[in-house]
Order: sequence, then structure tokens, then C-alpha cells
Amino acid sequence: MPKTTSDAHILVNMTYVSRATSDVDAKELGEILQEAQDNNAANGITGMLIFHNNYFLQTIEGPRAQINRLLYALMADKRHHDVQLLEARELKYREWPKWLMSYTSPSEAAAAIHIKYSTTVEFNPYLLSAESARGLMIELSSQSGEATV
Ligand SMILES: Cc1cc2nc3c(=O)[nH]c(=O)nc-3n(C[C@H](O)[C@H](O)[C@H](O)COP(=O)(O)O)c2cc1C
Repeated sequence: MPKTTSDAHILVNMTYVSRATSDVDAKELGEILQEAQDNNAANGITGMLIFHNNYFLQTIEGPRAQINRLLYALMADKRHHDVQLLEARELKYREWPKWLMSYTSPSEAAAAIHIKYSTTVEFNPYLLSAESARGLMIELSSQSGEATV
């Protein structure tokens, strides 16, 4: 569990988009997910990651201090770039309490869910509002299970 700090009991989330560096393939993605799940278990963090068309869309949720620390690590991580924050807010409860880091990729079967929240057919999370990103992730995650690549 996280170290006790003054804000250890404030639950927050953070949603960002980024672009993968060119060498992120299925193997690299698997390593990112494994690292994320191991660290998140230790830090009281849960969440959801989408990877598609070389874009990442991720929500992390957990204690404020740990979420802030992870933000710094993510910004410094050379496996992706152009990190853009969509939303950070306090939470009453977690959206993904069971998932240390769930993963999904909007497949053709999920195209209808994607277009529901998007102005474009192609998945481009930089074009999503925070509200659309949240709706998309919640609906996609209800279709998928625990992370596998
Ligand atoms: C797209 C993406 C998502 C990531 N998600 C997480 C995450 O949920 N939790 C985590 O601890 N690290 C995540 N990482 C890895 C962090 O950027 C960083 O490498 C790691 O937290 C550093 O851990 P360390 O300080 O123990 O070396 C992610 C990296 C990428 C590229």
C-alpha cells in the first residue's frame, strides 16, 4: 500500500493521451502492461489503457500523491511522447477497482462504440473531449477483461 502522506486518502484520476514511439510493438506493449500492473499493485493504482493506431489513451486512478508521482514517470518515459492531459479530478469512487491496468484496443467490433463518442472514423484520442474519452473507455472496458495483449 502507498506510504501515508497528508493526501494519501484523496482519490483522484488522471486521463492523458500520447503517441507511442515507433518501436512499440506487441512485445513492448506487454512489457509496459506488466510493469504497470506490478507497480500499480504496490501503489494502490487502478485504471484502463487503450492502444490503437499508435496512440495511447490511459486513465489512472488512485491516491493523489501516487498519481502525481506516476505522472512524472510517464512524462519522462521515452516509449511515448506528446503526453497531453485530458483530465485530472477528484473521485468519489474508482471506475476500475478490479483492474490494476486493464487493456483494450478498439477492434472493428467496437467501432460503433468509438464512433458514438468521436467525430472521426479513425481512432485519434487527441480529438476527444474529457467527457467523450471517459464514456468511450467505460464502454470499451465493459466489453473486455483483464489485460492481455
Ligand atoms: C503508455 C504507458 C503506460 C504506463 N502505465 C503505467 C502505469 O499504469 N503504472 C506504472 O507504474 N507505470 C506505467 N508506465 C511506466 C512508467 O512510465 C514508468 O516507466 C514506471 O512507472 C517507472 O517505474 P520505476 O520508477 O519503478 O522505474 C507506463 C508507461 C507507458 C509508456
